[in-house]
Amino acid sequence: MKALVYLGSGNKALQDHAKPEISASTDAIVRITKTTICGTDLHILEGDVPTCTPGRILGHEGVGIIESVGTGVTAFQSGDHALISCISSCGKCVYCRKQMYSHCTTGGWILGHKIDGTQAEFVRIPHADTSLYPIPEDADEEALVMLSDILPTGFECGVLNGKVAPGGTVAIVGAGPIGLAALLTAQFYAPAEIIMIDLDDNRLKVAKRFGATSVINSTGGNASETVMAMTGGRGVDTAIEAVGIPMTFELCEKIVAPGGVIANVGVHGVKVDLHLENLWDRNITITTRLVDTLSTPMLLNVVKARRLDVKQLITHRFKLDGIIAAYETFGHAADTHALKVIIEA
Ligand SMILES: NC(=O)c1ccc[n+]([C@@H]2O[C@H](COP(=O)([O-])OP(=O)(O)OC[C@H]3O[C@@H](n4cnc5c(N)ncnc54)[C@H](O)[C@@H]3O)[C@@H](O)[C@H]2O)c1
Ligand SMILES: [Zn+2]
Ligand SMILES: [Zn+2]
Repeated sequence: MKALVYLGSGNKALQDHAKPEISASTDAIVRITKTTICGTDLHILEGDVPTCTPGRILGHEGVGIIESVGTGVTAFQSGDHALISCISSCGKCVYCRKQMYSHCTTGGWILGHKIDGTQAEFVRIPHADTSLYPIPEDADEEALVMLSDILPTGFECGVLNGKVAPGGTVAIVGAGPIGLAALLTAQFYAPAEIIMIDLDDNRLKVAKRFGATSVINSTGGNASETVMAMTGGRGVDTAIEAVGIPMTFELCEKIVAPGGVIANVGVHGVKVDLHLENLWDRNITITTRLVDTLSTPMLLNVVKARRLDVKQLITHRFKLDGIIAAYETFGHAADTHALKVIIEA
């Protein structure tokens, strides 16, 4: 089969690769129909994720058709259409029993990281019963690719942890696919204001279309003053960090209102200063989270009921043969205006 293989920092190739086989009774082999590329795949290619070693097939998102299942799989059979979660979970370990699937002792984020991933014709999914979701009849499978990672991430790490509430004020720093997913799902709770902050005017234009009440281009460095002016000097009840650099986390520290929450989503590679000299008396909460994907069944229902148009996030389409071009397009989003690219296997 064809697969996109990570070959060490800065290198990747579409290669011929052995087809995966069932290695545990709880495994399923899935024939990928559609997959995509995540910002995290770019982090891996930059060498930022040393736990992902050369030779690994990348990708942790996608939909497909079950090819075969191990003898212990009871919820799926060959021919079933399934959504692949970016988080594998056994359902039984101490963390899974707390619904903290991201920390499953034999799963978590392993796909396209510690085991071969979805940017291939076939993938082996461990703990298939609890890591795959049946795709409802006549669902738009392309749209569901957005539910493998970005929608649950924006919702769980940003909106749920950030305690977005009716009538509240929200700022989302970073209008990439994750920030936009937080923007879409924040609207489940009818906050009064959602301020989107980014450096990229095109992404801010998209954010307006997706329901942001105002946008700020933070290129000049005055974003915190602008937010404080917009909120009568109070700041925001929820500040969602969806970039992953010190500057944007520190911006959240400046704009959080007394009693508010800073919900970190970004993956940080370097240390960030915590300004307790300004924050000690402000009754704030800071949260961090690796997505658990426990909201996936709810999000599937919302998409199925057409209460959320996740397809708006898809900007480009490629075949698996063109995946290198797909990476180029996704990696140069400022020029190509790419959000999510669909790759048909
Ligand atoms: N916690 C989790 O479980 C989890 C899961 C998936 C992704 N992530 C992380 O979430 C973050 C966002 O992911 P993404 O795919 O949307 O990334 P992305 O790179 O596509 O988007 C980041 C956005 O931030 C903007 N930006 C960069 N510097 C900025 C600055 N100084 N001020 C304002 N905006 C700035 C960029 O223009 C871009 O639009 C990444 O760090 C990613 O690794 C976390
Ligand atoms: Zn991802
Ligand atoms: Zn587990």
